[in-house]
Amino acid sequence: MLAVVTGASSGIGAAFARKLAARGYGLILVARREDRRRAIAEEVGDLYRVRVEAMRADLTIETDRNTVADRIRREPDLGLLVNNAGFGTLGYFFETDVESQERMHRLHVLATVSLTHAAIANLFPRGKAGTGVINVSSVAAFAPSPQNVSYHATKAWMNAFTEGLATELAGRGSPVTVQALCPGFTLSEFQDVAGIDRATIPASLWMTADFVVEESLRGFDRRKLIVIPGWRYKLLVATMKAIPDRLIRWGSIAAVRKYRQKKS
Ligand SMILES: NC(=O)c1ccc[n+]([C@@H]2O[C@H](COP(=O)([O-])OP(=O)(O)OC[C@H]3O[C@@H](n4cnc5c(N)ncnc54)[C@H](OP(=O)(O)O)[C@@H]3O)[C@@H](O)[C@H]2O)c1
Repeated sequence: MLAVVTGASSGIGAAFARKLAARGYGLILVARREDRRRAIAEEVGDLYRVRVEAMRADLTIETDRNTVADRIRREPDLGLLVNNAGFGTLGYFFETDVESQERMHRLHVLATVSLTHAAIANLFPRGKAGTGVINVSSVAAFAPSPQNVSYHATKAWMNAFTEGLATELAGRGSPVTVQALCPGFTLSEFQDVAGIDRATIPASLWMTADFVVEESLRGFDRRKLIVIPGWRYKLLVATMKAIPDRLIRWGSIAAVRKYRQKKS
């Protein structure tokens, strides 16, 4: 079977590439940086003797999104799509440049819509168990927080979208599986891109990309809809669901204040 992984040039996407190749999947790795994409393609191709193709695409650009979606729609051996490409920004929404916020929506929302549409249109008629789509969301989906408005909103959308799809597929009796993967702090280049100082985050909250992907694939095998890697984050989300929304908003304002104090 073939897996398409977006954002496969680093972090969680690269870990998906390695672990899926180890499971015997052929791969199409999608990202913008050619050198990094090629290096991972060569590494996993050599190590696991699987077919690996590196595809350059900036998924914030409509023509690139359409090219990748067409490819996904036509792949006869498609087994899995991982919508993983993403990034964060730090700063109050109204003070950031609006283009960065629009790009985030195009990547997290529009790319997920068009690639998932192509993948399910391909997978649904084949009706094969063990096939599906993993959308890499975040624990940030569960609570709004200052300086993270678009990130929270797009990841909350991703969870709602995945849950809606799961409901549709179940209603049609399809074995095709969808998952929203909701990691917490994971060591990757994400923090460099977003401008997050790793030293301000407690050590106990960090996870590795390998662990996150292992949990995701274990959940996929069991057809789990929402996967939250790590007991601390499972507990955090369960607590957030149990307390009133206004307390969550108050808590996230306090947490961001603490972060800013630590930074200054
Ligand atoms: N790390 C965390 O703490 C954390 C926590 C929760 C959720 N997540 C989510 O996990 C996913 C992966 O992030 P990561 O932690 O692995 O960060 P990362 O190491 O920065 O990887 C992000 C990947 O997305 C790709 N990408 C970014 N913009 C793109 C675009 N316009 N078109 C195509 N590809 C693009 C990057 O490749 P190129 O730059 O080569 O294009 C890179 O491969 C994201 O969706 C993120 O929101 C991360």
